[in-house]
Amino acid sequence: MNRQALLEQLRTESPVIAPSMLKCDFGNLQRELELLESAGARALHLDVMDGHFVPNLSYGPMVIKRMRQLTDLPFDAHLMISEPGKYLDEFLDAGCDLITFHTEAVDDPLPLLERIRSAGAAAGVALNPGTPVADIKPLLSECDLVLVMSVEPGFGGQKFMPASIEKLRQLKDASPSHMLLGIDGGIGPETIEATAQAGANLFVVGSAIFDAADYGQAINELACLAGNNTDVASAG
Ligand code: DX5
Ligand code: ZN
Repeated sequence: MNRQALLEQLRTESPVIAPSMLKCDFGNLQRELELLESAGARALHLDVMDGHFVPNLSYGPMVIKRMRQLTDLPFDAHLMISEPGKYLDEFLDAGCDLITFHTEAVDDPLPLLERIRSAGAAAGVALNPGTPVADIKPLLSECDLVLVMSVEPGFGGQKFMPASIEKLRQLKDASPSHMLLGIDGGIGPETIEATAQAGANLFVVGSAIFDAADYGQAINELACLAGNNTDVASAG
């Protein structure tokens, strides 16, 4: 999907609950994708880890390319890797629609944001819990998404860090209204409302979906909790 169409779709559907595939059953990937589609997932969050930028390994473009053949859902790739620029073309080629890299992983994020956008994908920057909003303020007009990490990246199932709420507030105030504001880590029924109130409109959710017996029920409940607190008009 091209950048403008994807952004329009995500803004219209906001609040967007994006299941993080890190916790899916990879032995039954096709079945998991079918379940998520019928559960009403609107985008899939793909956590790419290199064992260097973060102390864990997950999967890369080869797996994503195969997944691309199994679903039309938009792919939101979260690159937790060193030197994201070196591998960018492979993720674009694999069919990622939105590509988010970490500001801590590059010297200058701007050229990379431009490369992603000029390839027709949407571009995002992620911030580790220790990285201040000030570090990316000059970039905000060039970002389609800013992803606030509410855990140290690397693992699913961690506890939500409440300091991320203030970061969302600061970003909401400083960002153009059309920018997507994402939150990633420890999001579930107890934490989603506060993040929505603080300005998040894209919610990455791993455990709270994949540990649930019924994905559809989990997604609906989270969307309801977020929707009651998201200012959808200003997200549009
Ligand atoms: C953490 C990843 C997250 C994670 C979310 O490094 O970026 O996307 O899988 O999982 P939960 O919702 O379990 O915190
Ligand atoms: Zn993630």
